[in-house]
Amino acid sequence: MANIIAGIGSSHVPAIGAALDTGKTEEPYWKRVFSGFERSKEWMARTKPDVAIIVYNDHASAFSVEIIPTFALGCAAEFPPADEGWGPRPVPVIKGHPELAAHIAQSVILDEFDLTVVNKMEVDHGLTVPMSLLFGQPKEAWPCRVIPLAVNVVMYPPPTGHRCYMLGKAIRRAVESYPEDLKVVIFGTGGLSHQISGPRAGLINSKWDKAFLDDLSRNPKKLTRIPHIEYMREAGAEGIEMVMWLIMRGALDDKVEEVYRFYTVPASNTAVGHIILENRRKLPAMTRKAAVGRRRQAAHRADHRITG
Ligand SMILES: [Fe+2]
Repeated sequence: MANIIAGIGSSHVPAIGAALDTGKTEEPYWKRVFSGFERSKEWMARTKPDVAIIVYNDHASAFSVEIIPTFALGCAAEFPPADEGWGPRPVPVIKGHPELAAHIAQSVILDEFDLTVVNKMEVDHGLTVPMSLLFGQPKEAWPCRVIPLAVNVVMYPPPTGHRCYMLGKAIRRAVESYPEDLKVVIFGTGGLSHQISGPRAGLINSKWDKAFLDDLSRNPKKLTRIPHIEYMREAGAEGIEMVMWLIMRGALDDKVEEVYRFYTVPASNTAVGHIILENRRKLPAMTRKAAVGRRRQAAHRADHRITG
């Protein structure tokens, strides 16, 4: 069966993509940001997922004020990078996994989460910047398939954190009922604290961000009770993007292994946060059962030697 083995939280600041694409990674200002993702790239290269479900928000690239779905699942075979005003990012076309995506759509919708199914969609920096940070800048092709899940956090009303968390659980049930053996990771992107316009433009609240990361790791249910107004007040108008991290967290075990965390301010006018959480139950059910059986046999043999 398919299995979600880990969750990744990452900011998706557009200026990070621009810095990558224009060769500024060694400049001191940007080196501080990119150095925080070196270990993450090594982790990803070791982990080698087959599929990444990437929860992100569209920034008026695929959708406009005319149509904004709350949750939109990308079921296409491929997703070209969007032109956000200065040409598409020079990154490979993102290859989808239409079979698993269709399975997730069916499972989650029948589980009473009404997703919008999207069969044609361009994807913007919200999705491609976290991919570049975790997979590097491949020339020809990305190393795994991607299922985009776009969430409305740009126009009121966005979904609640609790709804996002519960959707993560439904996605996990969907993935685990897919018969093919696939190693799946799930990304939550956006944030952390930032506000890009208005009198509070430039707001960053590191204390609140760090507490969010602590709770994301160890006490995620507490985060599901945060109302929108608190995100807006504490993390800025665009800080509401952080509800997307709760979809990722909902798809993981209650108790997880935090294997990496990075936080720096600022990048552009945004706090940059990043976390990698691994499920403790990493093995597929059958393999786990066999492993338990093997451990029991070994224990029995050891016991026999001692007493016999
Ligand atoms: Fe964003």
